This record gives sequence, structure tokens and C-alpha cells, in this order.
Amino acid sequence: MAVSAVVGTQWGDEGKGKIVDYLAERAKYVVRFQGGNNAGHTIVVGDDTFKLHLLPSGCVSGKTGIVGNGCVVDPFVLVEEVEGLKARGVEFDLFLSDRAHLILPYHKLLDGAEEAFKGGRAVGTTGRGIGPCYQDKASRTGVRAGDLLHPERLAERVNDNVAVKQAILGAYGREDELDAEEIVNDLMGAAEVLRPFITDTAALLQDAVDGGDGVLLEGAQGVMLDIDHGTYPFVTSSNVASGGMASGCGLAPRDVGDVIGVVKAYTTRVGAGPFPSELPTDAGVGKHLAEVGHEFGTTTGRPRRCGWLDLVVVNHAVRLCGVTHLAVTKMDVLAGLDEVQVCTHYELPDGTTTNRVPSDPELFAAARPVYETFEGWSELGDGTWQGLPATARTYLQFLREKTGAQIKLVGIGPGRSETVVR
Ligand code: IMP
Repeated sequence: MAVSAVVGTQWGDEGKGKIVDYLAERAKYVVRFQGGNNAGHTIVVGDDTFKLHLLPSGCVSGKTGIVGNGCVVDPFVLVEEVEGLKARGVEFDLFLSDRAHLILPYHKLLDGAEEAFKGGRAVGTTGRGIGPCYQDKASRTGVRAGDLLHPERLAERVNDNVAVKQAILGAYGREDELDAEEIVNDLMGAAEVLRPFITDTAALLQDAVDGGDGVLLEGAQGVMLDIDHGTYPFVTSSNVASGGMASGCGLAPRDVGDVIGVVKAYTTRVGAGPFPSELPTDAGVGKHLAEVGHEFGTTTGRPRRCGWLDLVVVNHAVRLCGVTHLAVTKMDVLAGLDEVQVCTHYELPDGTTTNRVPSDPELFAAARPVYETFEGWSELGDGTWQGLPATARTYLQFLREKTGAQIKLVGIGPGRSETVVR
């Protein structure tokens, strides 16, 4: 296996957790390389459902989880997840990069203040402090997990930050009182739990790869939320796509072999920003997708916007990430519809057509989807490829042809076993 990666090809929530859980079987390490607890991965094992935000999904199947340097880590959430899994009897090993940046209470306050300030132009963030934490990383003022091992350095960095953040919050008209001493004390409590996990995970992974161990890189969010290649400014603050995988965990791009792009059989998006194939969710197909697909955010509980599959978006991700295989999820949610549509290209306001995601956000918002229509299906058979109805296979075959990537897995239900393997 060497190194494989799983990435979301849409706006997140493609069902990556289940696919990672499935593919992790052959890996020794499962690695998060970007994002933080803005992610929400649901994994169903037998009668048990696990909702993870920060820990790699592979931890549920007893793999060694690595939270890489490209992640932003809320230490209190991490402690809660570690203790939550242990309380449910799940055994796992974990390493946390000493280079990963910590999300501290002032980041969450700033996330809220920045969003409120933007008013009608708000991004619709998860409110977890992701953007402000990455801002500090880029400004070279951040506090890193490794600082938890050095109390004096930690206190100094938190003190410096609190003074500045207090002033910024004041400028936003926020009255929040930050208490540096309280933050440091709470951090020292979290450090008690996290200390054994903190290490140079880049060196660990490099040795693992050189020694031939299987590594699975677990992407969070989706390529359309990538800070460079997504629908800026309606994006997250990390590189979800391509190069982010390697730099976010300390491997070389050429270490990464197979890249599995996870595609939901239709499209969803949480938060604001363009979405050409969006459907109204108060009636018709949109309502069907939202209700049958239980399209509510794992992290925030917000209803997700829903629409038809958009192959322009998927192909953007396939090209950027070098996707070699597709895992198509939630085919069962489309069951029962007479017809199923797929957006293949856009018509632009000047009358031209394109099969590229326009880099200009206003042009993208004005793009009109052009669809191909397929006959629907009602049941998805016995869990084999041949058992899938011919109409569903035609739909999947179309995806294969239009993306050039092989179809490896097809999700026909939420459970671990409800997966067709090709
Ligand atoms: P942030 O990552 O909390 O800053 O949010 C920025 C944008 O990314 C918002 O539109 C969020 O709804 C979206 N987002 C962040 N994480 C996820 C995710 O895991 N799934 C879906 N959308 C996400």
C-alpha cells in the first residue's frame, strides 16, 4: 500500500470517514494533515456510531492515528475525544505533531467577531476558531503543540497573544475578557493528557515510509473549500488539495501513491458561497436529498444545501489532487427518484460554455449548470457490482468515463458492510 490519500472532491461531507475506515484496514498509520475540529466524520461500526472531529477516523479500527503538523488543534477537544473513545473501550495509539498549531479560546472569539463584522458577507464558518488560528500560524505568532512541553515558553506566548487579541476584540466592539493565566492553567491540564502523544510526527512518518509501513492520509473538508483552489472567500483556511497532503504531514509529494477521491452521488454544501447545481430543499428532489440523506452538519447541525452531482467540480478536484480512484458514496440516497441528473458543464452569462470551475467567484455564482439525465433506480442489490441495477451502473460508468478515475468503492448504505468493492 505505501502511502495512499483520501480527499473530498466536493464541499466536504462526502462521507470520507466511512471510506477511510474501510481503507485503513491495510494501513498502520492514519494521518490527518489539515484542518481541525471543523471536520466531522461519522463512522458506523455494527450498532455503534462514532462522530469524530479531530482524531483520524482510523482510530476507531484500532490504528495508530497521527494528527499532523498541517492541522490546527483545539487541545480541549482533543482531550475530550481521546477520553471519549477510551471510555467506549476503543484501543488506539495516537501521535500529535509538535509543530501543529493550537486553537486557543481567543481564536474562537475572533472567529465569531470576524463573522459578525462581515454581516451579510459572512463565510458561515463552523465557529471553531480555524481561520484565526491559521492566521497566527502565518503571522508567526502561533502557539504550537510542542509548547505544551515547555510551560514557561507556553505562558510567554499565550501572554503576548492575549494582549494583542484583547485589543483586536475591542476594535470589533467585543467586551470579552481574556484571562491569560486561566488559559495557561487550562492548557497545563490538557498537557497532562496530551504530553505522551506529542512528538516529531514528520520524522516518524518518514521512517515509517522508508520502512515500508502502510500510511493512509485522511483529508478533511473538500477541494472546493481549499483556500487557494476553492470558492474564495467562502472556503476554509487550509490547503485541502494536492500539495497540502505532503506538507501537512512531512512527506514528499512523490511519496503519495494512490489518491482516492470521495464523491457523494449528489452535491451538498454548508455555509455561504456559489453552488451552481443547487436545488431548493423545501420541495421536490432537493427535499428528498436533504431528508433521505440526513443532510445536517456533523459539527454544527446546520442544514446542508443540496443539489445534483456536479462533474465540473469533481473534475477540478481530480486534476488538482491527482485522483486515481473514486469512492462514490450515498448512492442509496438517490434510490427512488425517477430520473437523476448530472451537471457536465456550465453556461456562462456571455453565452459561452466551460467545463472548468471559473476562478472568479462572481462568474462562478452566475454559471448555469447544463445537465445530462439518467434513468433512476429503486434498489441497490446484494452488495456486489453485478448486483447493482443496470441504471445505477450506467450512472457510475458515466462518472468513470468523465473523470478518467477508476471506481473502487460504492457506498449503498451507512454501515461498514454496505460498500460495493470493485
Ligand atoms: P471554517 O473551516 O470553520 O473556517 O469554515 C469555512 C467554511 O468551510 C464554511 O463554509 C464551513 O461550513 C466549511 N467547512 C469547514 N469544515 C467543513 C467540513 O468538514 N464539512 C463541510 N464544510 C466545512
